[in-house]
Amino acid sequence: MRNAYIAGTGYYVPPKVVTNQDMMQWYDTTDEWITERSGIRERRWVEAGTGPSDLAIPAFNMALEDAGMEKDEIDFVIFATLSPEAWFPGSGCFFQEKMNLGTIGVLDIRQQCTGFVYGLSLAKLFVESGQYKNVALVAAEVQSTSIDLSNEGRTVGVLFGDGAGVVIVRAREDEPGILSTHLHADGRFAKELWVPEPSSTHYPKVTDVNNLHCYMNGREVFKHAVTRFPEVINEALDANGWNKDEVDLYIPHQANLRISQMVAKILGLPEEKFYHNIQKYGNTTAASIAIAMAEAQRDGSLKKGDKLVLAAFGAGFTWAGAAIIF
Ligand code: UT7
Repeated sequence: MRNAYIAGTGYYVPPKVVTNQDMMQWYDTTDEWITERSGIRERRWVEAGTGPSDLAIPAFNMALEDAGMEKDEIDFVIFATLSPEAWFPGSGCFFQEKMNLGTIGVLDIRQQCTGFVYGLSLAKLFVESGQYKNVALVAAEVQSTSIDLSNEGRTVGVLFGDGAGVVIVRAREDEPGILSTHLHADGRFAKELWVPEPSSTHYPKVTDVNNLHCYMNGREVFKHAVTRFPEVINEALDANGWNKDEVDLYIPHQANLRISQMVAKILGLPEEKFYHNIQKYGNTTAASIAIAMAEAQRDGSLKKGDKLVLAAFGAGFTWAGAAIIF
């Protein structure tokens, strides 16, 4: 039996720390407001000229080292980002060229906050079908460049950060790994959390620079998130006959500390079972679970053989979960 598993993890965040205090130079806001509503204390921002494919490089190298592999062994790349450096081609092609990965296939996906879990689902299929042996799943975001720094943008602007996470998905015989993934979407809510432009529906693609910023109906997102997170977690548990208490660690997409705390409460789980690093990095959308997984492994919260559940919710709306023997 050929099973896909996570052979290595890696992450990278840019060195520039932007604190809640720093936010006060652009916004009428306070450290107290941001911390109370989101749990975020600081986030990382890139310097100008850095794209997601650049952030992905050190994360990829760390994941390769963790897996004990050389980059030439990678035979496919899945790149998840909502903040690509160009309208096209996708960031995966820039990454492939920078890493000198020859002519292996690259697939860019645009699933926003659920990009990593959707990507994991694809990586599992590629590996278990035998089409590829070693898939690099890259999730990287540069969001600081699309933040509205006028006071109008304060609700969204304080939440997001830049960073990258990578996992190497490989096959092993008999021993289980990525057991199941569960993918969902509801396009009725597409415009509750979106960046409307550039858009191919009009000429030119950008009619108003304000449409390059993220619009979010925060209350609506919150309401759906606290319903869909528990739902998809239960789906992952049921699919594998797992009891919620036997799971060693839950890694939710780092959207908002309050959302995760409410989800833990709804599920009747202690907060310690939920991994958080949003305090340091903000919401790094597709990259957040990958960064959290890599950090959790290094700080001892996540060990080989652990039962791990991932869950994500975000723009689309999309939501997704995964059950993994790490
Ligand atoms: O991956 C999914 C990504 N998104 C999320 O997870 C976000 C989900 N939503 C949320 O977490 C919350 O809706 C937010 C944290 C975004 C906002 O919290 P809220 O409790 O829904 O606040 P609100 O938008 O209703 O605003 C409450 C007040 C308003 O003032 P008034 O009208 O009550 O006087 C806002 O103008 O807070 C004000 N406000 C701020 N004040 C200080 C909004 N942004 C800020 C700010 N600093 N940055």
